[in-house]
Amino acid sequence: MSGLRVQGKVALVTGGASGMGKADALLLAREGASVIVSDMDSQNGRAVVKQINDADGSRKAIFIEHNVADEENWKAVIAEIQSSYGRLDILVNNAGVMKPGNILNTSLEEWKWINSVNSESQFLGCKYAIPLMEASGEGGSIINMSSTSMVYGISYVAAYSASKGSVDALTRTVAMHCIEAGNKIRVNSIQPDSVRTPLVAKLATGNDSVSQADVDDLNKLPTQWIEPEDVANTVLFLASSESNCINGIAILIDNGACIRPPAGGASDKN
Ligand SMILES: NC(=O)c1ccc[n+]([C@@H]2O[C@H](COP(=O)([O-])OP(=O)(O)OC[C@H]3O[C@@H](n4cnc5c(N)ncnc54)[C@H](O)[C@@H]3O)[C@@H](O)[C@H]2O)c1
Repeated sequence: MSGLRVQGKVALVTGGASGMGKADALLLAREGASVIVSDMDSQNGRAVVKQINDADGSRKAIFIEHNVADEENWKAVIAEIQSSYGRLDILVNNAGVMKPGNILNTSLEEWKWINSVNSESQFLGCKYAIPLMEASGEGGSIINMSSTSMVYGISYVAAYSASKGSVDALTRTVAMHCIEAGNKIRVNSIQPDSVRTPLVAKLATGNDSVSQADVDDLNKLPTQWIEPEDVANTVLFLASSESNCINGIAILIDNGACIRPPAGGASDKN
């Protein structure tokens, strides 16, 4: 039996039907949290909830259909959590989309869509979750999903990279707000590099929907993949009281990718 590092906590994981959100939901539940899996994909979202509840025979997890880009939907989701659980301790603002496009061939509609799902959604999530988190008087933890794409300059994902830069700037302002409010809510972001999920398989295949085989095929590429479970471990750490003094930062999960010197640069080997 694991240490139950978030025992008794209530956690909302957006985009919990797939990839990293699914891994986060499974791990938080295994570590004792009641988990609300929210997603637009109700079939896979309900399957994640079933997997959690089947594992220990409880009704610890529920699914809520949720479009994170929709303000009214956010209000309804938070109201449902309030009436079902009366509290919220952990928010993982994970849901996101990616569509390749550089500065010239990205349309304004694509820019707005990507930024609304990836970034505006996290503004809405923080805005509507904080009052419920404050209600317990015990504080909480918000984990916002950023990406190494906001650190690199990746020309072919202009809107995506910008959306993640916005996430990190938002994270710092919300963390500072919570410090000033004295509400004991911590707000951090994570910046994973290449994680082996359906989102990347869609990018690799050029298809809008992918199978597990497509995700498995990513292993044939020379990329040093990060697994969703590796990211979930960092989410669990940030969600738990083990990270009590960590606030307002971005954690890179990148196998050291962002500290590599330029090709041919100085190293101990030359
Ligand atoms: N995979 C990577 O390499 C990588 C790296 C860094 C950051 N990220 C980010 O991690 C997060 C999760 O990505 P993933 O790789 O696990 O992808 P994924 O495609 O496996 O999962 C994303 C989930 O978000 C859901 N979603 C999409 N739009 C939504 C909306 N409007 N409302 C609610 N749910 C919605 C999808 O249905 C899906 O279940 C995203 O924010 C992504 O940008 C991914």
